[in-house]
Amino acid sequence: MKDVILTGLRANSELTLGNYLGGILPMIEMQQKFAKTHQINMFVPDLHSFTTPIDHSQLQASIFNNLKVYAAAGLDLDNPNTFIYRQSYIPAHSELTWILDCFTGMGELSRMTQFKDKSASLSKESISVGLFNYPVLMTTDILLYNAKYVPVGEDQFQHLEITRDIAERMNKKFGQIFVVPENTAKQTAFINRDQGLRIRSLTNPEKKMSKSDENPKSKILLTDDPQQAHKKIMSATTDNIGQINYDWQNQPGITNLLTILAYLTNQDLEQVKTKYCGQTQYGEFKKDVATAVQTFLEDFQTKLAKVDEQKLLAKLEQSEIEMNKIANQTLLRAQKAVGLR
Ligand code: TRP
Repeated sequence: MKDVILTGLRANSELTLGNYLGGILPMIEMQQKFAKTHQINMFVPDLHSFTTPIDHSQLQASIFNNLKVYAAAGLDLDNPNTFIYRQSYIPAHSELTWILDCFTGMGELSRMTQFKDKSASLSKESISVGLFNYPVLMTTDILLYNAKYVPVGEDQFQHLEITRDIAERMNKKFGQIFVVPENTAKQTAFINRDQGLRIRSLTNPEKKMSKSDENPKSKILLTDDPQQAHKKIMSATTDNIGQINYDWQNQPGITNLLTILAYLTNQDLEQVKTKYCGQTQYGEFKKDVATAVQTFLEDFQTKLAKVDEQKLLAKLEQSEIEMNKIANQTLLRAQKAVGLR
C-alpha cells in the first residue's frame, strides 16, 4: 500500500491570481512530484463550506467550477493514484465525525485559534456549532483515508495537531484504529513546498491579495477580462523611490510585481531580478508584467473552456466509489471499537 498524501481544496466562488500561484499551482506540482510513488487524495470539503454563512445558491456551481480550475491548471485526471472527490458524497465523514465528537473536549476545541478568530466578531447565537466542530470534521477527513501527509498552510497546523491528538487518544483507548499523520515538522520537511508565497494586493501591497477585497483594482480574478487585468497592473500602486529593487520592506508593490512576473513566465526570481533591478523607469517593467498577466489569463481561460466536463465528472464518480470503500473500512473499525458493531 502506498503512503497517502491528502489535501482539501476549498470551494471559493471567486479565485484570484494569488490563490492560483500560492495554492493551486503548488498542488499541481505536488501531484507531478508524488503521483508515481504515493496515493494522492484531493477532495472538496463541501461540508466545511458553510460553517460560516454563505450564499447557498452558489455552492453547487463553485464546487464544480473549482475542480475545473484545477483541471485547467494541469491536474492530471488520468493518473490512477490520484483521487478527487466531494466530501459530502462520502457519508462516512459525517458518521465518523459524530463518533469522534464524543471523544473530543469542549476545552480543546475552544482553544483553536481559527475558531477564536472567526467567532470573535460574532454573537454567541450566531456562532454555529458547525464552526466550533470544524476541526473534528477535518480530523475525520484525514483519518478516514489513513493519510500520512497533509500539506496545508501554517494556519491549519493546529488542526493537524488536534487530528494527531484525537487519533492517538482513540488508539490508546481502543487499540490501533487510526493511522496517525506525521507531525507538522515532518510534513513540512517531506512536502518541501514554498508555503510562503503570498501575492499582495495591487492597491495596497502591504496586504495580501484577497478575493473579499471590495476594490476590484486590488485583485486579479481568474475570470477577469484579460485586457482589464492589463490595466489593473498598469495602475498598480508602487512607490516613488524611482529604482526597481526586490525589497518587501520598502518596495512591496514593485516586489510583488517582480514576483508575479517570475511565476507567470516560469523564471527563477534571480533571472527576473537580474533583468530589472536597478532600472529607473517603472513603465516598461509594468508593461512586461501586465502583458504576462494578460497572456496568462487568455491562456488559462481558453484551457478552462476546454476542460472535458464529462471526463472530470467520471473521474469524480469513480474516485468516490473507491474512496467510499476505504472510508467505510475505517468507519467500521471505529464502530466496532466503540461497540456499535
Ligand atoms: N481547513 C482547510 C483549509 O481551510 C480545508 C480542509 C478541510 C482540509 N479538511 C481538510 C485540508 C483536510 C487538509 C485536510 O484550508
